[in-house]
Parts: sequence; C-alpha cells; structure tokens
Amino acid sequence: MHIPEKLADEGKEILASFPVEGFVYGKGPENAAFMLVGEAPGETEIHNGVPFSGRAGKELMKFLEKLNLSREEVYITSAVRSRPYRWGEKKDKHGNVVKRKYNRPPTAKEILGHAPLLDYEIEHVKAPIIVTLGNIGLKRLLGPGYKITEQHGRVLRGPVQKYNEGTYSWTEKEFSIFPTFHPASVFYNRRLEEVIQEDIEALKKLL
Ligand code: URA
Repeated sequence: MHIPEKLADEGKEILASFPVEGFVYGKGPENAAFMLVGEAPGETEIHNGVPFSGRAGKELMKFLEKLNLSREEVYITSAVRSRPYRWGEKKDKHGNVVKRKYNRPPTAKEILGHAPLLDYEIEHVKAPIIVTLGNIGLKRLLGPGYKITEQHGRVLRGPVQKYNEGTYSWTEKEFSIFPTFHPASVFYNRRLEEVIQEDIEALKKLL
C-alpha cells in the first residue's frame, strides 16, 4: 500500500520549516496481519527509506519473530514521517567538540502536520488490529489522556483521532487498538523487555 504522492508532498511541505529531515513512507501490504504505528524515523531510516530498520527496528523484528510473522506481513508506519532532530555537541576521538544532530520526539505540531498521512493509511490498510508503539502513537490515535503504562497489553475498541481543519476529530468507524511499549524503550529500561513479552503473548492470542 502506497499513499498518494500528492499527500506525501503536502506532508513534506507542511514540515519544511521545522527541524526535521528526510521522509520515510509507511511500508507493507494492504491486507496486513496488523498495522504498527511508531513515533518517527531515526537516522538509519531516513538514509535507507525503510521504517524500523535501525536499532529499534532490530528489537521490533524480535517481536515479530515471536508472532511468527515477517516484516512483509505487517504494515509498518509512524505518526511522523520525517526525522525530528535537535543539534547537540559531542567530543570526537581527538577531544574536539563537534556539532551533531540527535533524535528527539516529534512535537504536537509535527504530529498534526503529518496526521493526514496516517489517516490515509488507517483508512486504506485492511488491518484487523492497530498496534501502537509507545506514547506518541497511542496519544495520536486515542488522545492525550491515554498513557502507555496504563493501557498496554489489551485491546481498546473505538473511534480514533483524525485530522480535521487544523485539529482532530473522531472517526465514525471503530478500530481495535492494541498499545504496547516502543521497542526502543528497552534500551533505557531492560525490565520492559519482560512486559513487552507479555504484551506480545496477549497479542498472539488475539491474532
Ligand atoms: N522509531 C519509529 O517510530 N520508527 C522508525 O522507523 C524508527 C524508530
């Protein structure tokens, strides 16, 4: 499934003046086992154009293996398609301070700017379940009142947020949302690996 080029161009245009770079399309079949909604691409992804192909992607592939699924069987996308960055400083091997870009979470404006792209995918990909990865994907679809620590590992059935004239409104259609933690969260908190494992077991029963 590919979003129309016009929609992608509008998304690029809207974020043109924001500190973001690159553009990564969602990837996967129209009839997907489920849809995965992440946060935004990182450095690896904007270079090779494949969502979740960097370090977080390796963790995500472990989840899929446990479900006996390959990347080709699921639709993988994110709330924002460009890499949000901030400038920071780092010492190189000679001790010189060099400026470099670091990943950062997307802002509410960036998420809203790319909302029509995700709306299109949600409307056109025939996935029985939408698995949100982390707080960004969860809040994008169900609103700011939802927290991953409170909602992970179960299905939430209902409408989702969609772009509407500079803000969000609710879809008429109902969806099955299964929130779990972002695969990169295990880099900061190894204990989450066990929690994610339990979530995957719960998801496996649903599929
Ligand atoms: N995190 C995401 O949400 N998407 C990617 O493609 C990579 C990391």
